[in-house]
Amino acid sequence: MTTTSTAQIFLHFILYLSLHNLIFATTANNGIYNPSVSILVNCGSSSDEHDAEGREWVGDTSPNASASGVISTKSTPSTASFQDPSLPSSVPYMTAAIFESEATYKFSASKKERLLIRLHFYPASYNGLNPENGFFNVVATPVADGAGGITLLHNFSAYITAQALSQGYIVREFSLPMINDDFLTLTFTPAIVQPKAFAFINGIEVISMPDIFTATAVMVGFSDSSVTVGASAVQTMYRLNVGGQYIAPTNNTSFSRTWYDDTPYISGAGVGATATAGPHIKIQYPMNLPTYIAPPDVYRTARQMGPDPKVNIQYNLSWSFQIDGNFTYIVRLHFCEIQLAEVNQRVFDIFINNQTAQKDVDIIAMTSSMAIPVYRDYAIYISKEEQLLVELHPSADSKPEFFDAILNGIEIFKLSDADGNLAGPNPKPSVMLENELQITTTAQKFQPEYSSEKSHVIAGTASGAAAAGLIFALCFVVYQRKRRANDSESGVSASGWLPLHRNSHTTVSKSNMSSKSCTSSQLSTMAASLCRHFSIFEIKQATKNFDESLIIGVGGFGKVYKGIIDRGATKVAIKRANPDSEQGLHEFQTEIELLSKLRHKHLVSLIGYCKEDNEMCLIYDYMANGTLREHLYKTNKPALSWKQRLEICIGAARGLHYLHTGAKNTIIHRDVKTTNILLDENFVAKVSDFGLSKTAPLMNQSHVSTVVKGSFGYLDPEYFRRQQLTIKSDVYSFGVVLFEVMCARPALNPSLSKEQVSLADWAIHNQKKGKIFEIIDPYLKGKINLECLSKFVETAEKCVSEYGNDRPVMGDVLWNLEFALQLQERDEDGGVSSHGSGSSVDVLNLSSEGDGVVNEMREELDDLNELSVFSQFLNPKGR
Ligand SMILES: *[C@@H]1O[C@H](CO)[C@@H](O)[C@H](O)[C@H]1NC(C)=O
Ligand SMILES: *[C@@H]1O[C@H](CO)[C@@H](O)[C@H](O)[C@H]1NC(C)=O
Ligand SMILES: *[C@@H]1O[C@H](CO)[C@@H](O)[C@H](O)[C@H]1NC(C)=O
Ligand SMILES: *[C@@H]1O[C@H](CO)[C@@H](O)[C@H](O)[C@H]1NC(C)=O
Ligand SMILES: *[C@@H]1O[C@H](CO)[C@@H](O)[C@H](O)[C@H]1NC(C)=O
Ligand SMILES: *[C@@H]1O[C@H](CO)[C@@H](O)[C@H](O)[C@H]1NC(C)=O
Ligand SMILES: *[C@@H]1O[C@H](CO)[C@@H](O)[C@H](O)[C@H]1NC(C)=O
Ligand SMILES: *[C@@H]1O[C@H](CO)[C@@H](O)[C@H](O)[C@H]1NC(C)=O
Ligand SMILES: *[C@@H]1O[C@H](CO)[C@@H](O)[C@H](O)[C@H]1NC(C)=O
Ligand SMILES: *[C@@H]1O[C@H](CO)[C@@H](O)[C@H](O)[C@H]1NC(C)=O
Repeated sequence: MTTTSTAQIFLHFILYLSLHNLIFATTANNGIYNPSVSILVNCGSSSDEHDAEGREWVGDTSPNASASGVISTKSTPSTASFQDPSLPSSVPYMTAAIFESEATYKFSASKKERLLIRLHFYPASYNGLNPENGFFNVVATPVADGAGGITLLHNFSAYITAQALSQGYIVREFSLPMINDDFLTLTFTPAIVQPKAFAFINGIEVISMPDIFTATAVMVGFSDSSVTVGASAVQTMYRLNVGGQYIAPTNNTSFSRTWYDDTPYISGAGVGATATAGPHIKIQYPMNLPTYIAPPDVYRTARQMGPDPKVNIQYNLSWSFQIDGNFTYIVRLHFCEIQLAEVNQRVFDIFINNQTAQKDVDIIAMTSSMAIPVYRDYAIYISKEEQLLVELHPSADSKPEFFDAILNGIEIFKLSDADGNLAGPNPKPSVMLENELQITTTAQKFQPEYSSEKSHVIAGTASGAAAAGLIFALCFVVYQRKRRANDSESGVSASGWLPLHRNSHTTVSKSNMSSKSCTSSQLSTMAASLCRHFSIFEIKQATKNFDESLIIGVGGFGKVYKGIIDRGATKVAIKRANPDSEQGLHEFQTEIELLSKLRHKHLVSLIGYCKEDNEMCLIYDYMANGTLREHLYKTNKPALSWKQRLEICIGAARGLHYLHTGAKNTIIHRDVKTTNILLDENFVAKVSDFGLSKTAPLMNQSHVSTVVKGSFGYLDPEYFRRQQLTIKSDVYSFGVVLFEVMCARPALNPSLSKEQVSLADWAIHNQKKGKIFEIIDPYLKGKINLECLSKFVETAEKCVSEYGNDRPVMGDVLWNLEFALQLQERDEDGGVSSHGSGSSVDVLNLSSEGDGVVNEMREELDDLNELSVFSQFLNPKGR
């Protein structure tokens, strides 16, 4: 068990404050629950204010508070000394109620019903108090199950928790059953064990909710026993929209709940594939399932295992969650079949913490039809593991039609224990220290007297600004748990096609990050000297202070802006690191290190970089015509001719060939896809995005063992299975690109029928049946020379061979594409090549695998020697 785990627990509670009183405005037939109580309290404030979303928070010392049913112990209104940029809104976070002795909030509740409580904490310095001394308990009364009330938090330190999460603020959510209908009281008590301890709170939400815990949960590992939540108090640990995107609390979720993307929690290499219900599918709630259980968007998206039964049977689709030991948890799994309609098509087993929770789950057998949601609750007592593992595996025993599994949503609730306690311990800083140092962060919200020696984190060097006494900047070393690192990998691997990934979660943000302190020390002097350094002032000028209208793309790394430098002389593309992404930081450096040393016509050129304050930017040549993908489909740009497509593929192949063989070390790109092939104003293709690239240290080392990264749909199945990266992994991805160019459809399209989801599989399937012509881009029909097409398809097919050894090297791919182009040109202009530029000569002169290429080329030529184009290859000087 590691430390970050504890941090993870809280990750989910970071909820947006949102508003619209959608809750009040909408009617029951929208599926929105209409609560009888909904009070938002802005603690430590004497006025009623709206948050960034327009939701109204009543000040706890405002004259209107009691009218809203809030009575509180007097506290001095306090304002935070610093506004962390990660705060979603200044209301309710910038003001806090501070208590140095026991204090209470009373809320009038009109019925005996469940209340949803959200507590918001922003651990900053208020009234000169050291945020490190904020240790306190929070108890809720009168609430069923627990004589002295329910302990929600005990010896809680928002400061330690936020540090462990590198998070600016903390939100925790509870659901409490009321036992009388007058008041709910929340009592805040400073922890007596800490000498200068105080309690604080920034915001409280109290919203009434129906009892959503009526189902009986099977006790995992004890098939004959079950658990009913009944009158227990509950803490929400996780709430995920599996295979789907973040759902904001204002977006029809009932009781302002937030649903998060599940990718950060997927464990193991197999992340499966996401699926989305087609637009014609309407989610139909059965009579026994209230619509407030989960919104339709949760059921419309799912994660499944993938198209290949042989792969599926070998792995478990799994999610792992950090939780507190010594509690019983309810794991609620939401299902809805959105693709299959028959019984025994998809049957799977569910495991929780290595024990069978349910065997032979067949969603259609449970619901009788497609698009009908259902959920199941499983209970498990966790003593010491502090980890909860949910795994799905195809049930081979039931001999289903497909070896696959599906999940649409997960919620994990912690039940109060026999003492009426829900509180877990603070994350342990000592364990945090065992984890590797990954990032240096500058945080300014704490005053310097709460300095590094006292802090649980190691202080780095204070910046010059701090020394000058202008800005108090402390450098914190943020320790990342290993789990976090894996998280970001899954996030990145998914970024190519998932609608949203972790970087889009503004909630999972860090406080102000300093790139200066980390990158300059780690960037090699060679890389730093090879490319130009820009000041942030120049970058801001170039981008009109990062004007949103200049954004030309958004990637895992961050946003890409168009800019003009050197007084209007040069157009550039500026990639601005998303300060929330640790992954981004690493990729930033990889890219500088690699690209600064590479210069090639078919690789995008890095002009320079900027790292200053909390900004990191990379500056590239501007590619006027964007990505290859945006010229292929879902576009209003004119379709590319076949010849243009061939030339673009040849250019990209040339760039990759150079990476594999031309540079000093073999470089494996690892993320070849149509969005990473850029086009300049003349449609010359340039390979971009080297953030995931790996250098093989020695030419004779045939592979690099590594965690699987890349984009789904393009990912080499062999790399996926064996986790060994070779140059043939790029060849596989390039084969998918070739099919994509030919068919003008995405590499993965989960909305299509199962056999069509993966383009590589679908193309091979059609090729085997001799029906490849049926799937090419309709625009190209009748415009491609048939010999050219078969050469092209044959090349693409070889590239996507199951085994790396069967795939050609890039040099061969390049040659075959050149050859296909010659065939096309001969057809188009009667044998006179309009494709000058000596590209075929380049092929012959390729050094590293030259002999192999030439020999294979000669064989090919012998086979086809009736064609006039050969002479040009055999006698390059003749061109
Ligand atoms: C109390 O509520 C009224 C009506 O909503 C509002 O106009 C007034 O400003 C509020 N008072 C304070 C102190 O915020
Ligand atoms: C609500 O959710 C839908 C589907 O998930 C999404 O398309 C839409 O942008 C969301 N709206 C808001 C206001 O968040
Ligand atoms: C909520 O659902 C209703 C009806 O389904 C729809 O009209 C409304 O636009 C939705 N609101 C949001 C924010 O998605
Ligand atoms: C669980 O309870 C036992 C016995 O009270 C205690 O020794 C142990 O430390 C607790 N574990 C956790 C993770 O709190
Ligand atoms: C599940 O089993 C694996 C392998 O035996 C083990 O490493 C892991 O700790 C177990 N997990 C739990 C939660 O028991
Ligand atoms: C899937 O998980 C279960 C329970 O942890 C385990 O027994 C089984 O070996 C796993 N299967 C695979 C293929 O990893
Ligand atoms: C309170 O939490 C702090 C930090 O986690 C810990 O060092 C201390 O021992 C805890 N005190 C008690 C009484 O649990
Ligand atoms: C995280 O990745 C490392 C390898 O980078 C692996 O050893 C470890 O088991 C992974 N942890 C989890 C929880 O997946
Ligand atoms: C980050 O800190 C720098 C000073 O180091 C400050 O100028 C900048 O405004 C901060 N960024 C944000 C987004 O607040
Ligand atoms: C390609 O870029 C050139 C130069 O900016 C521009 O004139 C042309 O319209 C672009 N073509 C397409 C299809 O966008």
